[in-house]
Amino acid sequence: MTGTEALEGRIVALTGAGRGLGLQIARTLLERGARVVANFRSPSADLEQLREKFPELVLVQGDIAEEEAAIELVAAARRLGRLDAVIHNAGIARDQLLVRMPVEDWDEVHRVNLRGAFLLSKHAVKAMLRQRYGRIVYISSGAAILGNAGQAAYAASKAGLHGLSATVAQEYRSYGIRTVVLAPGLLDTGLGEALDEKIIEEKAGRSMLGIGSGTQIAATAAFLASADADYINAVIIRADGGLVY
Ligand SMILES: NC(=O)c1ccc[n+]([C@@H]2O[C@H](COP(=O)([O-])OP(=O)(O)OC[C@H]3O[C@@H](n4cnc5c(N)ncnc54)[C@H](OP(=O)(O)O)[C@@H]3O)[C@@H](O)[C@H]2O)c1
Repeated sequence: MTGTEALEGRIVALTGAGRGLGLQIARTLLERGARVVANFRSPSADLEQLREKFPELVLVQGDIAEEEAAIELVAAARRLGRLDAVIHNAGIARDQLLVRMPVEDWDEVHRVNLRGAFLLSKHAVKAMLRQRYGRIVYISSGAAILGNAGQAAYAASKAGLHGLSATVAQEYRSYGIRTVVLAPGLLDTGLGEALDEKIIEEKAGRSMLGIGSGTQIAATAAFLASADADYINAVIIRADGGLVY
């Protein structure tokens, strides 16, 4: 199988699909023939529009850091027959120098980025064990590998995904369950756009290729969720244009 064929008919659950990179991943998956079950938190006109174009898109609203939302997302996929792949894209940042960072911000970033990933993994793996097959893609960040001043909570929570991914892969290696971390650099989507212009300029300068495009990262995520990526397991894929300091 190659190209779009490797995604045709696959059932993929995705978090944080309302805007930004998540919306672009949903669109790419649908265009390539996957059946998508998408979690979103805030109402999204863009997502509704996407459903008009692809009526088979299943939308499930919820805060992915709450267990009920993970259970509902996985159940919605199973109602379609199976769950081939999960992409945990939902993520937040509360940037602040360490000494000024309120503990509430640290907790909230970890709640969404890491607790959300744990809950989704737990319930997705339960479904995947039954079919003895599955893929989990965790969207991390270059900040988790290299660190980033002002992003202690964000970088630490994303680095937690790396340990989670490697561990899930080891625990369920004999059940056909694979994991992968996709770590983008600075992108032209929500979290990247929200940064101060000076910081954007400084961060973009750290990548040999400057700012990355959400559409390219969406295509990479779609590939990782496809059958073409079946031999990729328990690794971190950096898609950051070559980050250097
Ligand atoms: N943009 C970058 O430069 C960059 C670089 C590296 C990695 N990433 C990662 O890529 C992912 C997407 O980033 P982005 O730029 O697309 O950010 P974004 O535009 O801010 O989108 C984040 C998405 O996550 C959703 N979300 C947040 N908390 C949630 C929760 N508790 N439950 C369900 N959904 C929730 C948001 O929903 P609401 O609309 O309800 O807030 C939104 O749809 C994140 O994991 C981010 O860390 C981004």
